[in-house]
Amino acid sequence: MRFKTQKISYWFFATCMLLFSLQLVYGFIMGFAHMGMDGLHEWIPFNAARATHTNLLVMWLLTGFMGAAYYIIPEEAERELIFPKLAYVQLGALVAVGVTSIIGFHFNWWEGRKFLEIPRPLDYLVVIDVLLFIFLVGGTIWKGKRYTTTSMVLFFGLLMSALLYLPGMIHTDHQTVDSYWRWWVVHLWVEGVWELIMGGILSFLLIKLTGVDREIVEKWLYIIVGFTFLSGILGTGHHYYYIGTPRYWLMIGGIFGALEPIAFLGMAIYAIVMAKRGGKTQDNKMALSWTIATAILSFVGAGLLGFAHTLPQINLYTHGTLVTAMHGHLAFWGAYACIVLALITYAMPHITGRKVQDSSMNTFAFWTSNSGMLCMTVAFGVAGVAQVYMERRIGIDFLAVQKEIEIHFLILVISATIFTAGIIAFIWNFIRFGKPIGEVQKHS
Ligand code: HEM
Ligand code: HEM
Ligand SMILES: [Fe+2]
Repeated sequence: MRFKTQKISYWFFATCMLLFSLQLVYGFIMGFAHMGMDGLHEWIPFNAARATHTNLLVMWLLTGFMGAAYYIIPEEAERELIFPKLAYVQLGALVAVGVTSIIGFHFNWWEGRKFLEIPRPLDYLVVIDVLLFIFLVGGTIWKGKRYTTTSMVLFFGLLMSALLYLPGMIHTDHQTVDSYWRWWVVHLWVEGVWELIMGGILSFLLIKLTGVDREIVEKWLYIIVGFTFLSGILGTGHHYYYIGTPRYWLMIGGIFGALEPIAFLGMAIYAIVMAKRGGKTQDNKMALSWTIATAILSFVGAGLLGFAHTLPQINLYTHGTLVTAMHGHLAFWGAYACIVLALITYAMPHITGRKVQDSSMNTFAFWTSNSGMLCMTVAFGVAGVAQVYMERRIGIDFLAVQKEIEIHFLILVISATIFTAGIIAFIWNFIRFGKPIGEVQKHS
């Protein structure tokens, strides 16, 4: 750790681990419910479990991104974070709003819009909290000694994410208009500005872990960012096919949606080439493994499995089925969960002064969680394809089909257990690192 205030990120990462664990509990509740074992229904109905599972996911990823920024920005800007005490207030307020929302979901206090379930009054608090965060990292860059491409890409990703939260708050009672704006948040986050955050963190990790010159790593970052926006912005059209918007979206969404995997492929090639080119001997092999996993699995989960249902002719049948859940899991895991875990693995030895990153526990965590997630993806995929044929092609009733595919959820729960064993090992290893130290060390 080169700056004392970088240790703030530890508390964000610890919160991440807590929220992530809770997310998995709700995943299991849903997995068992799909198998017909819905004993908790009276207290936690499926809709509450689903909203909790997905919102906790978004919350722990955002907390991870914030922690990453509090670690990366001081190092890139070469100065301490401004007003460090406020960063703790910002974390506390974020957790308070998040926990209130999650409790609210269990009492039917929610908006009913997938991924944007947080009740409106709490949305305003989220906005204030995120503005405080943007002020702290933005101010640090502003007052810093240098502006790097890495910190700029990361910062603009975070700023744009904050701004793109606002379209989701536009009030309307028209179903189509509401859906239209919802996608500005959901799609333009994961297939637009979050890719900047991912690109910024990826570039920071590649510079640190491979020893390749900053100029080279950052030059390619620009090109990938260009591709992301070229395809991602109009790619929003792949959600406008059949929601009541004009027909021209079929063409726009079809073409630009199909181009989106190129940006993810670019990101994968970029990371692999940089890792091969750099001959740096480093003592954090697991951080590099997680970095490469991000690059490859985001291409498979987002690029390939996104492409699998992005064409209007296919989406007509697969929309809103378990095929979407198949893609959603591997895309979120590969692109955003892995990059957060990569940065945590990189930063922890520096924050705590302990070097347990390359332990067998962490190696087990890496392989077990990734294998488990790949099996989960297959399980969702098989269930999804069966669902599409029976429900959408043959026309069997929704609930009758759900009964038919119950068996696939046994495989899902087994795969999820393997995945969870990996995550428990990761968290255990996180705890083994111990608490942050206050001292500043010298390292590259
Ligand atoms: C890391 C990037 C990505 C993540 C995290 C992600 C995640 C998701 C999630 C969670 C959904 C469900 C959203 C909802 O119904 O509210 C979804 C839907 C969708 N995604 Fe992605 N995605 C990513 C990239 C892509 C890419 C690159 C493509 C195209 C090649 C794509 C194509 C689609 C399509 C067509 C749908 C709509 C499915 C439906 O109609 O039910 N996604 N994605
Ligand atoms: C213990 C592990 C997990 C289990 C058992 C699990 C199970 C489930 C189930 C059953 C659903 C609902 C599918 C439906 O609508 O019927 C779901 C939704 C979802 N889960 Fe998980 N999950 C787990 C972990 C994760 C992880 C680690 C991530 C992200 C990295 C994730 C991301 C999502 C997303 C994005 C959705 C919404 C998908 C959509 O919109 O179609 N889950 N999960
Ligand atoms: Fe999309």
